[in-house]
Amino acid sequence: MDMRKKIAAGNWKMNLDLEEAQKLASEVAAMVKDEYIGQAEVILAPPFPFLVPVHRLVSDVSNIHVAAQNLHEQEAGAYTGEVSASMIKSSGASHCILGHSERRQYFGEDNALLANKIDQALANGLTVIYCLGETLEERESGVTAEVVGRQLAEGCFHLDASAWNRLVIAYEPIWAIGTGLTATPEQAQEVHHYLRIKLATQYGDAVAQATPILYGGSVKPANAGVLFSQPDIDGGLVGGASLKARDFVEIIKAL
Ligand code: PGA
Repeated sequence: MDMRKKIAAGNWKMNLDLEEAQKLASEVAAMVKDEYIGQAEVILAPPFPFLVPVHRLVSDVSNIHVAAQNLHEQEAGAYTGEVSASMIKSSGASHCILGHSERRQYFGEDNALLANKIDQALANGLTVIYCLGETLEERESGVTAEVVGRQLAEGCFHLDASAWNRLVIAYEPIWAIGTGLTATPEQAQEVHHYLRIKLATQYGDAVAQATPILYGGSVKPANAGVLFSQPDIDGGLVGGASLKARDFVEIIKAL
């Protein structure tokens, strides 16, 4: 179990202007350098226009990486307003979040489209943070496992085992995102464990044991420690609390 990377990823969503983004990145980088000692991986996911300046500000801190929040499934061409995987890679980013529930809900992204986006990301050398999670209605009607199992299988199970060294899974129950409601550590652990079993069934134990599974949904300094102490929770995908350098760094330290 110790073989798995510990990861704290900050999803800034559609927030901040350039100046604020640079300030936040500099503060996180300085705090990580000054205060944090360890192996944990830190990922910052700013909006597209800030990938380059944020990367420049954190590139001298070896455990901080930059992620995009989305990409287009085609390599290049007449897709006005879209951003490709190769553009993201050339900006200095190394990761891309895909399948966030806000993309699924507001932009109609489904598992089949996300499978193509994952292929595009991997083909361009990016590491994918693939998000999945159930709605409140799905949880209450007892179909959580079925829903997240399908999101995992339809999004990722076309991949070879060798692709899994560049995949991170993020379980984000939709009812816990931005709501202040957090899954209990036991609820989260149950789903994480289920996802790991699915990975083991499909790819074998080595892949299942090596793949980081992050929890997301109202992670904050006050609950990060108890969430991260669960055996199958390998870190967090943090929205709101990642916009405050001090809060985000406390969450990193909880790893
Ligand atoms: P939150 O968002 O931490 O603000 O709940 C998490 C996410 O959507 O990744």
